[in-house]
Amino acid sequence: MRCKTFAVTFLCFLCFATANAQISSLERGSSLSVEDNSDFLTSPDKSFTCGFHGVGTNAYWFSIWFSHSKDRTIVWMANRDKPVNGLGSRVHLSRDGSMVLTDVDGAIIWKSSTNSSSTTAPAERAELLDSGNLILKDPSGKILWQSFDFPTDTLLPNQYFRKSNKLISNLGRGDFGTGYFTFYFDNDNVLKLMYDGPDISSLYWPDPDYNVFQKGRTAYNSSRVAVLDNLGSFLSSDQLQFSAFDMGLRVKRRLTMDYDGNLRLYSLNSSTGLWVITWQAMVELCKVHGICGRNAICIYTPEPKCSCLPGYEVTDASNLNLGCKPKFKRTCSKSEEEKFVQIPQVDFYGFDLNYTEKLTSIDDCRELCLGDCRCEAFSYRLNGEGKCYTKSALFNGYRSPNFVGSIYLRMPTSVETPSLVTKLNASDTCRSTEVQKMGSASMYDNTSKRVRWIYLYWFAIAAGAVEILFILSGWWLLFRRHGGAAPVEDGYRVISSQFRMYRYTELKKATKHFKEELGRGASGAVFKGVLEDERVVAVKKLADIYQGEDVFWAEVSTIGKINHMNLVRIWGFCSEDKHRLLVSEFVENGSLDKHLFPPNFLGWEERFEVAKGVAKGLAYLHHECLEWVIHCDVKPENILLDSNFEAKIADFGLAKLTQRGSNSSMFSRIRGTKGYMAPEWALNLPITAKVDVYSYGVVILELVKGIRLSNWAVEDSEEQEAELARFVRIARRKIQCGQDSWIEDMLDPRLQGKFNRSQAEKMVHIGISCVDEDRNKRPSMDSVVNDLLECED
Ligand SMILES: *[C@@H]1O[C@H](CO)[C@@H](O)[C@H](O)[C@H]1NC(C)=O
Ligand SMILES: *[C@@H]1O[C@H](CO)[C@@H](O)[C@H](O)[C@H]1NC(C)=O
Ligand SMILES: *[C@@H]1O[C@H](CO)[C@@H](O)[C@H](O)[C@H]1NC(C)=O
Ligand SMILES: *[C@@H]1O[C@H](CO)[C@@H](O)[C@H](O)[C@H]1NC(C)=O
Ligand SMILES: *[C@@H]1O[C@H](CO)[C@@H](O)[C@H](O)[C@H]1NC(C)=O
Ligand SMILES: *[C@@H]1O[C@H](CO)[C@@H](O)[C@H](O)[C@H]1NC(C)=O
Repeated sequence: MRCKTFAVTFLCFLCFATANAQISSLERGSSLSVEDNSDFLTSPDKSFTCGFHGVGTNAYWFSIWFSHSKDRTIVWMANRDKPVNGLGSRVHLSRDGSMVLTDVDGAIIWKSSTNSSSTTAPAERAELLDSGNLILKDPSGKILWQSFDFPTDTLLPNQYFRKSNKLISNLGRGDFGTGYFTFYFDNDNVLKLMYDGPDISSLYWPDPDYNVFQKGRTAYNSSRVAVLDNLGSFLSSDQLQFSAFDMGLRVKRRLTMDYDGNLRLYSLNSSTGLWVITWQAMVELCKVHGICGRNAICIYTPEPKCSCLPGYEVTDASNLNLGCKPKFKRTCSKSEEEKFVQIPQVDFYGFDLNYTEKLTSIDDCRELCLGDCRCEAFSYRLNGEGKCYTKSALFNGYRSPNFVGSIYLRMPTSVETPSLVTKLNASDTCRSTEVQKMGSASMYDNTSKRVRWIYLYWFAIAAGAVEILFILSGWWLLFRRHGGAAPVEDGYRVISSQFRMYRYTELKKATKHFKEELGRGASGAVFKGVLEDERVVAVKKLADIYQGEDVFWAEVSTIGKINHMNLVRIWGFCSEDKHRLLVSEFVENGSLDKHLFPPNFLGWEERFEVAKGVAKGLAYLHHECLEWVIHCDVKPENILLDSNFEAKIADFGLAKLTQRGSNSSMFSRIRGTKGYMAPEWALNLPITAKVDVYSYGVVILELVKGIRLSNWAVEDSEEQEAELARFVRIARRKIQCGQDSWIEDMLDPRLQGKFNRSQAEKMVHIGISCVDEDRNKRPSMDSVVNDLLECED
């Protein structure tokens, strides 16, 4: 008997204990407090939790999230734009029956819009249901308010989506503020996706090139209601209908307006706790409007990235959403010579000045654009008939292999425009101007909003600022590295990068107090070092850095992301006090000059490979790297050879890093090395990528001849001109005369006939055209690469 009583008591105690730990409702008059980590509401089946979600140490949001996903996935928030303090904030079911969120100072941050007319009883309790819905009920069980009526960016199964609802994306990962992408019922009763940013707003789904009926929707049902059912099927009154590919019961799902502008349906894999995308609205992410800003295009690499148009540059490196600005001025005067630069497969949506249904020839289209001062470009489509769209502004640009047509950019003839990349394949693609797609939205920052939090939430702001900085620099992953790989988090692709910042002490230790000097140049001395992870590196102490820390960071992040087999890989940097250092890959065999010139010797195969590798590296910098990095100091000393004698160009990007305060194409100070420098340096002409082509020309002829043609070590500059000029003159004459064995006379005699004739001839031809005085006659590095590839064995 006693025993039984004890057992009952014990059981009751157990019941009580569990009930206490996992409450699913809150009675009138009680509250949840931010300080108590166990102060949560949990739905009866434990799928959802409701409470305070903290970021940093001092910013909290009253939210509902999935209990079982690996990373906390928020489905609803009361106060997305106003986090509360980590001390003293609470959510309270007040006597008048509304739920109130108060900050530490008692300020009401949020309040449920509960019906409380005199005829209805006030809410008695708040309950978190298994569906993820937080409800306020009166004593009779009538629902007076529910979180399902106020979605933030996520719709859950059985949550009705109605005319008054919107799903609005977050600003970015971990930034819960109201973002710019919206999913909603438009005035024509159709569900749409819209970018609604500070500068423009634009609809992008369903595809605005088609009418809604062509997309299987209807505008005629005005009930404007949609719901995702338990099986994973979505059905809307506009006849939008789709299903998760893993349709079935008992799967946790959510439909989320993601901050990259895509609407995605996710399923939770209950064994891994990760989300799997089971449907998404946009197949081509680049067609999301607003992601790249003005004068920029979204390209697939294969991840979507933003880049500036040729002739344009980033407006503000600290806010990539501002897009790009022209490097030229169009005066619109009659005397101005103008040209159009064609960029195939690229289109911009909207801002059409004039669109005529009738057929237009491309010449008429050009005339139409030239005739209107506002016209910045025109789009010409080739799908069957010529369609001409003149544009007054370039927004929503993207490149798609499926787009049959081109954009023609209008600019003064004098503007140099490197031909835009025609191939953008994964392995070789430059990441230098990547505006991280996933980060892009979070770079918007409403400063005025933040200032108001400054006293209470300084930490959150600091964290936010750091995050913004890192997203900007593309380095935020650096800090995430330690958290382990999370490649499928949220279904986004994570770009990995080993680029990082080093401490000065760390590098001092790695180089044993800068003991072993590998070389020294105008930009600084290079030391050999061994990092803690046993990687052998070259550490360059930069001399002559005039720029501030933030500019240095921005520049160095650009070159840090350049990754090509023929370019020396930059692993990181250090910027402390006055110290500016670059950490790069150590290349075993040293520089080309130490192998090529007497008394040393390099075989023919290696010479050809070096010519090809250097050309590829430069072509990459000039054309694919969408910042069009000009090296400015191509010479054998800056061409390193790895253990397989594969060429790697060093010191790229330094030209930009060490000069400031001049416009982009004209450097204020002469750079480069005598003998390898193009004539335009001396003539004070604008410096373009063609200066590298010139220097490359000298190098390739030196590869052929095996001696210094530049004779750069000689002081007398008249003489060194002559050396190269003589070679070129003789070679030209011999070629013209059509002598059979001309090439033998031009070659390094030490090769003793061991060479490939067609390769040697090609190299001489290329070299001669590269050192042409007239830079417009020099080939582009792209075409040099193609020429060399043609005569591979
Ligand atoms: C109260 O809420 C119901 C639905 O929950 C709504 O239909 C009704 O219009 C609301 N009444 C007031 C006075 O807001
Ligand atoms: C409008 O859509 C709703 C919800 O899908 C549906 O129940 C209703 O029958 C539709 N009305 C018409 C006239 O088709
Ligand atoms: C969950 O993930 C695991 C591991 O990736 C996989 O084996 C399993 O099939 C997944 N389950 C479902 C339901 O997709
Ligand atoms: C559009 O172009 C036609 C000529 O093709 C011209 O007559 C008309 O004025 C233009 N409309 C606008 C708004 O510029
Ligand atoms: C790019 O990749 C595609 C398929 O991945 C391939 O067919 C194509 O040849 C590649 N283009 C270049 C220029 O490498
Ligand atoms: C920033 O927020 C303030 C106050 O919330 C608002 O008035 C202002 O328009 C916002 N600015 C932008 C650019 O969104």
